[in-house]
Amino acid sequence: MLHYYSMKYYIEKLISSNDINSKVNYLGKRITQDYYNISKKFILIGLLRGSFIFVSDLCRVINIPHEVDFMTVSSYGSNMFSSRDVKIIKDLDGNIYDKDVLIIEDIIDSGYTISKVYEMLLLRKPNSLSICTLLDKPSCREVNIFIKYIGFTISNEFVIGYGIDYNQNYRHLSYIGKVVVN
Ligand code: IMP
Ligand code: MG
Repeated sequence: MLHYYSMKYYIEKLISSNDINSKVNYLGKRITQDYYNISKKFILIGLLRGSFIFVSDLCRVINIPHEVDFMTVSSYGSNMFSSRDVKIIKDLDGNIYDKDVLIIEDIIDSGYTISKVYEMLLLRKPNSLSICTLLDKPSCREVNIFIKYIGFTISNEFVIGYGIDYNQNYRHLSYIGKVVVN
C-alpha cells in the first residue's frame, strides 16, 4: 500500500497498527509480571522523540505503579545513517537513583545510542537498568548490548511511523512502514 511518496521514494507498510497493538499489550503483560514484586520505585524512560507514541501506549498496559520520564539524545538528523556521537540534548526531569529503570527506545540499529544512554544512566546508580525496544535491527549491530524486551525484529531497512521519523516527518502514521528508494 503506497500512502506517501515522492519522486525519490515511497512508503511500504511493514507492520500494521493491529500487530503493533497486540505486541504492545504482550510487552505490557510481560513487564507487569516481571516487575510485579519489586520493592523499589519503577520508572520508564522514553528516548525522545521516536519513542513518544510507544511509551504512551505501553505505559497504559503496564498495570503496576510507575513513573514516566523522557530524555532526548542527539539523533540521525536528516540522514539515514547513524551518527556515532551521542549527546544529551534534554536530560531527565527527575532522578533515577535506586529505582528500577526501564529505558524505552523506538528502534535499535547499530546500538551506539542505547549503549551510550545505558552507560550514562548507570552512573546515576539505579537499582536495576534494562532496555525495551519496539524494533530491533540485529543485522546492523556494532555494539554488544542485552535487550530485555523486543517488540519486532526487522531486517536492515529504514522504517518510519508510530513515532519514528524520516526527516521529522511520518511520525503520525499508525503503522510502521519502510522507506523504499525508487
Ligand atoms: P543506533 O545508535 O544506530 O542504534 O540508532 C538508534 C537511533 O537511530 C534510534 O533511536 C532511531 O532514532 C534512529 N534510527 C535507527 N534506525 C532508524 C530507522 O530505520 N528509521 C528511523 N530512525 C532510525
Ligand atoms: Mg530514537
